[in-house]
Amino acid sequence: MNRQPEETSFLSGLPEDSDALKNYVSVLERLSEMKELYRERGWPLSVCEATFSDLELWAKEHQENTGVFGISAHLLDWFNLHLHGKIVRLGRLQFNTDSIFGGYVKVFRNRTDGGRCIICNGGLSIDADGLRSHDANGWLTTFAESAEKTEGNQVEKNGRIKREITTLPAAEWQLELTYGEPMINIHIPAGEPITADLCINSFHQAADFFAEHLPDFKWKGFYCHAWLLDPILQELLPEDSKIIQFQKLGHLYPVGGETETIKRVFGNSGIKGTSNPNRMRKKLAEFISAGGVFHNGGMFIMKDEF
Ligand SMILES: CC(C)(COP(=O)(O)OP(=O)(O)OC[C@H]1O[C@@H](n2cnc3c(N)ncnc32)[C@H](O)[C@@H]1OP(=O)(O)O)[C@@H](O)C(=O)NCCC(=O)NCCS
Repeated sequence: MNRQPEETSFLSGLPEDSDALKNYVSVLERLSEMKELYRERGWPLSVCEATFSDLELWAKEHQENTGVFGISAHLLDWFNLHLHGKIVRLGRLQFNTDSIFGGYVKVFRNRTDGGRCIICNGGLSIDADGLRSHDANGWLTTFAESAEKTEGNQVEKNGRIKREITTLPAAEWQLELTYGEPMINIHIPAGEPITADLCINSFHQAADFFAEHLPDFKWKGFYCHAWLLDPILQELLPEDSKIIQFQKLGHLYPVGGETETIKRVFGNSGIKGTSNPNRMRKKLAEFISAGGVFHNGGMFIMKDEF
């Protein structure tokens, strides 16, 4: 007689709308495998636990948004990075080593005073605010380089792109960073405020951790792409905002694509569904009502800058 496969866990008896919980448990079941990896590599188990705590954060957020505890299927790839030791949480921030610099910009270093200048790659569509355009109506950046000089559109300190062309003589400026180079990607888990002190402390922990545990990984610095790196927030949030302080820790640059701002600030139900209109939500809701649009943003910090 053919035997039916045995039901392996209580989850197989749950209704279909419990997929999120099944996803959650499928990650939870692999915690022992992750601990084993940490033991083999000689990585502290405290880092394993801190890293794994992300599962709980995402499950709670899912519950707030949908009423169901668990995680969406699209997050399973994200948690594979945790389980395989590619993402580690050190202090307030998470660090992803399975990453290359993803900015469509080039960073040049002044040969004399060490100053940095960020120039956009060519062909990026820019809107009237000097940020990445959401439609085809923007103006296009240009980029040209020769043995003598580089010419292109510079990203200003406030993260906006200058339309007039900047020229960098090769005798004075050398290329320091470009797309595809080894940089550690920062992520900000939900939770306590992102004070500058906590973030800088995290950078130091990461530098020490990777020097000790991944000595052959020649990373050049950190970078982050996130909704909260939108330069427009500098006009909407107060001076004491930790988000703004975070933006000022490094160099801002433009990033295209859909931004998660509304989902991250108002949840799945959007601006009309929020029951707790705090300072940030009020300001952002006013901005949206006046026709404002948000952007993704990027920030990098080189290894010698923290
Ligand atoms: C990142 C995060 C911790 C920043 O919060 P913070 O350090 O308190 O930031 P600020 O000091 O700039 O916040 C200013 C105000 O906005 C509120 N605020 C900040 N982030 C908010 C959010 N995502 N939704 C609603 N309100 C938010 C704060 O509570 C604070 O309110 P108050 O003025 O009434 O005290 C927070 O946004 C968060 O937990 N986000 C989820 C994770 C995330 O988005 N990560 C980035 C993707 S990689």
